[in-house]
Amino acid sequence: MLGMVRHWWGLLRRPSTRWSVLTLLVVGIVLGSVGVVGFNLSLHATNTEAFCTSCHEMYAQPFQTVQQTTHYNNASGVRPTCSDCHVPHEFVPKMIRKIEAAREVWGSITGMIDTPEKYMAHLEQMKAREIARMRSNDSAGCRSCHDVARMDFSAQGEKARFYHSAMAEQGKTCIDCHQGIAHQYPGTVPASGQEPLAEVAAEH
Ligand code: HEC
Ligand code: HEC
Ligand code: HEC
Ligand code: HEC
Repeated sequence: MLGMVRHWWGLLRRPSTRWSVLTLLVVGIVLGSVGVVGFNLSLHATNTEAFCTSCHEMYAQPFQTVQQTTHYNNASGVRPTCSDCHVPHEFVPKMIRKIEAAREVWGSITGMIDTPEKYMAHLEQMKAREIARMRSNDSAGCRSCHDVARMDFSAQGEKARFYHSAMAEQGKTCIDCHQGIAHQYPGTVPASGQEPLAEVAAEH
């Protein structure tokens, strides 16, 4: 056994006589590029709405609810896909989220949310996890489109102006006040974060 390992190790370490260094380099670069392109393609492919809804349309609720909102239907035609809100845009946090998604693969194998009833039974748990994630990354997905520094407060309604100008000093982030903007289910609270809003108002 050990002899065989030594033999192969020796072969691997022996300088190549057949191929020129140039050939080996070119082959290496080509293979490396294929790897990088493949990696990026698969990152991209797992970020499309079609990919998310391949599971989450079967578990139809999130997609149907999004379609009823301004984020899906609006005059400007700017429309976030699932990953714009849910998957961080920076490389490292994005990779961490992709690895975390192993739980989702497991959940789909075990049929965790594959009927509307099961989905609703599991809803609060999923919401809580997503809200916690957005709190911990300071609502990074929202901020990839909405830049508070560029908000023209004077163009906003009085309520929005009041809360937005106080949010930094109050240590609040978008998801504290804007829950349910993308998925709102009949009979569930809160609609547009009424509770957090009351809480902020009370602090004033
Ligand atoms: C292989 C099927 C599958 C795919 C593809 C998939 N999901 Fe999921 N997703 C699930 C399942 C199952 C759960 C419930 C997992 C649990 O609660 O343990 C889930 C849960 C979630 C949650 C709730 C929060 C959480 O951490 O559980 C969010 C948000 C979510 N998915 C978003 C997405 C987005 C965005 C995409 C596309 C980038 C996506 N999913 C692709 C099956 C999938
Ligand atoms: C792809 C860019 C994009 C992302 C990501 C995004 N938004 Fe928006 N959002 C928009 C656009 C564009 C509008 C304006 C739509 C219109 O009325 O024309 C809007 C409108 C809104 C509104 C006002 C209308 C409403 O539905 O109440 C709120 C509040 C809002 N966004 C909050 C959020 C929050 C919170 C997040 C993160 C969870 C988020 N947005 C993520 C682009 C985005
Ligand atoms: C402390 C609470 C609070 C926080 C934090 C907060 N908002 Fe708001 N936001 C509001 C209120 C209140 C309104 C007005 C809602 C209404 O008029 O019904 C509003 C309105 C908006 C609107 C519509 C503006 C208009 O006048 O049409 C957008 C877009 C929006 N918020 C985006 C965001 C984004 C993005 C973040 C995070 C960067 C954020 N908000 C953080 C409370 C908050
Ligand atoms: C505009 C931003 C936005 C978009 C677009 C969006 N979501 Fe969400 N999603 C949220 C927020 C915010 C929550 C946290 C819970 C809440 O506020 O209702 C959430 C919660 C969820 C949950 C937890 C369970 C639930 O139903 O609330 C799932 C699963 C989910 N989203 C999947 C998706 C999928 C799949 C898509 C694409 C079809 C999508 N989301 C598009 C913002 C978004």
